[in-house]
Amino acid sequence: MPTMKTLFTVFFLLSIKAFLWRVCHASSYSSLIRSDFGRRYPTDEQPLSKIAIHKAVIALHESASVQAGPLLLGLKGEDTAWVNVELKYPEPSENDWVGVFSPANFNASDCYSESGKSHEAPCICTAPIKYKFANHSSSNYVTTGKATLSFQLINQRADFAFALFSGGLENPKVVAVSNPISFANPKAPVYPRLAHGKAWDEMTVTWTSGYNIDEAVPFVEWGQTGRSPNQSPAGTLTFTRGSMCGPPARTVGWRDPGFIHTSFLKELWPNTMYNYRIGHMLFNGSVIWSKMYSFKSSPFPGQSSLQRVIIFGDMGTAERDGSNEYACYQPGSLITTDQLLSDLDNYDIVFHIGDMPYANGYLSQWDQFTAQVEPIASIKPYMVASGNHERSWPNSGGFYATKDSGGECGVPAETMYYVPAENRAKFWYSTDYGMFHFCIADSEHDWREGSEQYAWIEKCLASVDRKKQPWLIFSAHRVLGYSSNSWYAMEGSFEEPMGREHLQKLWQKYKVDIAFYGHVHNYERTCPIYQNQCVNPERYSYSGTVNGTIHVVVGGGGSHLSDFTEINTIWSLYKDHDWGFVKLTAFNHSSLLFEYKKSRDGLVYDNFTISRDYRDVLACVHDGCEPTTLAS
Ligand SMILES: [Fe+2]
Repeated sequence: MPTMKTLFTVFFLLSIKAFLWRVCHASSYSSLIRSDFGRRYPTDEQPLSKIAIHKAVIALHESASVQAGPLLLGLKGEDTAWVNVELKYPEPSENDWVGVFSPANFNASDCYSESGKSHEAPCICTAPIKYKFANHSSSNYVTTGKATLSFQLINQRADFAFALFSGGLENPKVVAVSNPISFANPKAPVYPRLAHGKAWDEMTVTWTSGYNIDEAVPFVEWGQTGRSPNQSPAGTLTFTRGSMCGPPARTVGWRDPGFIHTSFLKELWPNTMYNYRIGHMLFNGSVIWSKMYSFKSSPFPGQSSLQRVIIFGDMGTAERDGSNEYACYQPGSLITTDQLLSDLDNYDIVFHIGDMPYANGYLSQWDQFTAQVEPIASIKPYMVASGNHERSWPNSGGFYATKDSGGECGVPAETMYYVPAENRAKFWYSTDYGMFHFCIADSEHDWREGSEQYAWIEKCLASVDRKKQPWLIFSAHRVLGYSSNSWYAMEGSFEEPMGREHLQKLWQKYKVDIAFYGHVHNYERTCPIYQNQCVNPERYSYSGTVNGTIHVVVGGGGSHLSDFTEINTIWSLYKDHDWGFVKLTAFNHSSLLFEYKKSRDGLVYDNFTISRDYRDVLACVHDGCEPTTLAS
């Protein structure tokens, strides 16, 4: 007998599927894509980059109008609201579209010219936050010139306006602009995200607001139920257009990020529930409060309890209101998010190993992403890694010279998310969760032997006492180990070039159990492997000494999927061309369960167990033997 929850889940999945089909096959969009760009879905192009905003002209039409309502959002403190937008335009076309702009006054006064010649500035210098085609939900728009659109807005520290454009995305002409609308308190503290601090008994809370420190004092009030609460101050950071490395982050993609606050909640008791809320104390003594949240503190390192870890990469962000192309840019993003949301009681900590919003220099997308993951990140430590879409930019100190970050060069990621790194501009760090020890590397910086990061990786792997923390996990965004992805196979490397050649002796010497990667958007698991050789014939149930590291690609968090090569290697045990994530469950010091779950149904499609004792970790393996002496 199906429960109401099951029926709801089925209905929800069917709705998602129908939604994805609809937005990915919308006639106006697909014809436009084929005619203007000659390409088909899935696309790996940031949708906002398709708008030629610098070519936009103002051509207001006296009979065109855009009406948006309600005028005031979030009257009960909500940070998300639905808005109706009514269009009227006597010369409609299927390529007309509506852009959501914030701040509402998006005229040329905020134009930024790299050349400094203001007279060359275009009419509009800021990309919209998102857009929909005018006929998105009114199929007779082209004949009637009338349509109603629904947008879901999040509180992003400024007001909003909706502009109707003709001329498609390539030759945009503003024909009408709506009235402005706003959240009741645009500056309100929003989207808290938890992360481990540098000490095991420290949780950090990071959030975004519109309050600078000259206006209000940020803090967190927190404590256990029934006890008097503590108050901890927060530090405040922001960044400017000038700290962006190039366009579009420095030009049309720039949007003021507001203020990013981090508070350090210290001396937590292990495995204990805490409540918290964010406050900004204004100078008149009143406090602007966030909602109330709660979290469970982490176990003491080495302490035994049921410990459950979620790992995935490359999730991206997508719009719940169906703003056309977002669902096609990262089509699995909301599917993974919602699967994790439906199972919140059954895991303890999350690792999102790089490529987070794929903002690619359109900074408004960082708010979209922090809002999307807030229901998870506000109650579980949400640990992140640096990906190429956060960091990569030419001549900016990174290892790669590609333009994947859209000019962000790591600045938004390193400010919006706290990680317990010594230097957040070098995004590598270690952290503990009870019986797990994690070494999270930064594949956007040099990891090769002799580099600063290589020395750190060795130190991280060497610093764990395996009788207390038997489960040693390595992770990096790019595939430094093994992958059957088609482009890696074409190169003949089956990995990111220069990856395992430099690191495999460290993984082997320090007996890393599992290494996780994203970047490649699919799932793949290897045998325990060293130097391209499977060192253990078992596939599902490892016991005793494992002999090598198991490498896992888990980059199917939501972005468009990557293809596998048709070459079958001896080391690849399981491949899945779908969205999904991994769950690790440590039952105690001797028993670990690995599960790969698809995002679409949350069911387990691949799994294995490791059962072993401390002596099995100490045992000699190839290139992982401590020296001995015959002296007695
Ligand atoms: Fe990537």
